[in-house]
Amino acid sequence: MKSVLLCLLFLLSPLQARAGEKAQTRLDELKMNCETCHGVGGVSPVPDQTPSIAGKSERFLVGQLEAFRAGKRRHDTMGLMGDTMSDDEIRAIARHFARMKK
Ligand code: HEC
Repeated sequence: MKSVLLCLLFLLSPLQARAGEKAQTRLDELKMNCETCHGVGGVSPVPDQTPSIAGKSERFLVGQLEAFRAGKRRHDTMGLMGDTMSDDEIRAIARHFARMKK
């Protein structure tokens, strides 16, 4: 019995690692996407058109992304961005940009 369990663990661990990698790749893709408009590291080169998001509080960023997704804050592109993001992704991306230097 024990060896069956060990064997299962052995089989499952690379799968778990791969799921983690996938989430990381998805997050990297999202970050690059945000940065095409919001600037590298979230510091906007054109703040009068696209606000910087670096160093804003995580709570603020989560709130805005949820508002875009829910259509409470209206903006075509950001609404679409929000639509593609899960709660976990919104939280992770907000945490990332909140940690960036303004
Ligand atoms: C195609 C360009 C584009 C992309 C890609 C984009 N944004 Fe935006 N974002 C904007 C614009 C433009 C605004 C300003 C919207 C407005 O005027 O209400 C904005 C607003 C925001 C705001 C509100 C900021 C504030 O100070 O009020 C946040 C937060 C935000 N974006 C986060 C993100 C994140 C995170 C991503 C990546 C997942 C992303 N954006 C991708 C263009 C973009």
